[in-house]
Amino acid sequence: MKPILTVENLSVSFTRYGRGLSRVELNPIRRLSLAVEPGQVAAVVGASGSGKSLLAHAIFYLLPRNARVSGTLLYDGVPLTRPLAESLRGRELALIPQGVTYLDPMMKVGPQLCRGQRDQASRLRCRQALGRYGLGPEVEELYPFQLSGGMARRVLIASAVAGEPRLVVADEPTPGLDLRAAGRVLGHFRELAGQGAGVLFITHDLNLALTVADKIVVLQNGQTVDEVPACALQKGEGLTHPYTRALWRAMPQNAFDPGEEVGGP
Ligand SMILES: Nc1ncnc2c1ncn2[C@@H]1O[C@H](COP(=O)(O)OP(=O)(O)O)[C@@H](O)[C@H]1O
Ligand SMILES: [Mg+2]
Repeated sequence: MKPILTVENLSVSFTRYGRGLSRVELNPIRRLSLAVEPGQVAAVVGASGSGKSLLAHAIFYLLPRNARVSGTLLYDGVPLTRPLAESLRGRELALIPQGVTYLDPMMKVGPQLCRGQRDQASRLRCRQALGRYGLGPEVEELYPFQLSGGMARRVLIASAVAGEPRLVVADEPTPGLDLRAAGRVLGHFRELAGQGAGVLFITHDLNLALTVADKIVVLQNGQTVDEVPACALQKGEGLTHPYTRALWRAMPQNAFDPGEEVGGP
């Protein structure tokens, strides 16, 4: 099937200026490639600092201005340019950012969710979006500072997916949520995929990824080192890359066996 999102050879680099004239080149993402098909939940799993948020931000053209970016982004087969990404964001393209600071502190939750649309249908859709994350209509009247961390996170997710997206990029969406709320979010991703959307679920938690994903893309130091079907990882079968094996063996249910090498650089 034709991917809804293709990332090809994405590289992101920064120049850091030290004392005097010294310059350091940082390359946190190097030739990263992945694809998400319609109907698929693809999880990107990597340790903290492996480049997951930079990847999400690159897709939405949200990287800081001093970032140098190269590579190809395709959305539904056409180049995903900055104008296209900006015009589709919040509608066909949904980003659930890692930080809740992305909520507008000056705007009440209701208008924020409806993006200024006041018609009856939009309001109903927003109310339903809140409702499915266990938030009542009274939340619409609150400002972000009046929300607890978990509530803010649920508002952010509701806001991102209220517009019937065709591609969802979720950057560590569940920290701060209790198990039930996290389960609801992941269940909603599955449901969106069932309706034909592609979901890129970014997480450091392989166990969590396996509860929802069809395939796992393993990220290490800004590079995709492996891509495996979730079922293979569940069983621990056919894992050839040492880092993927190490990830698998680090899961609590796969008790550490000192007889085998741990692998990974
Ligand atoms: N604006 C920036 N300037 C320089 N380095 C950055 C910048 N943003 C992120 N990095 C570095 O890039 C790496 C990946 O960051 P990030 O994508 O946030 O990781 P994570 O996988 O935890 O989301 C980190 O080492 C981080 O320090
Ligand atoms: Mg991150």
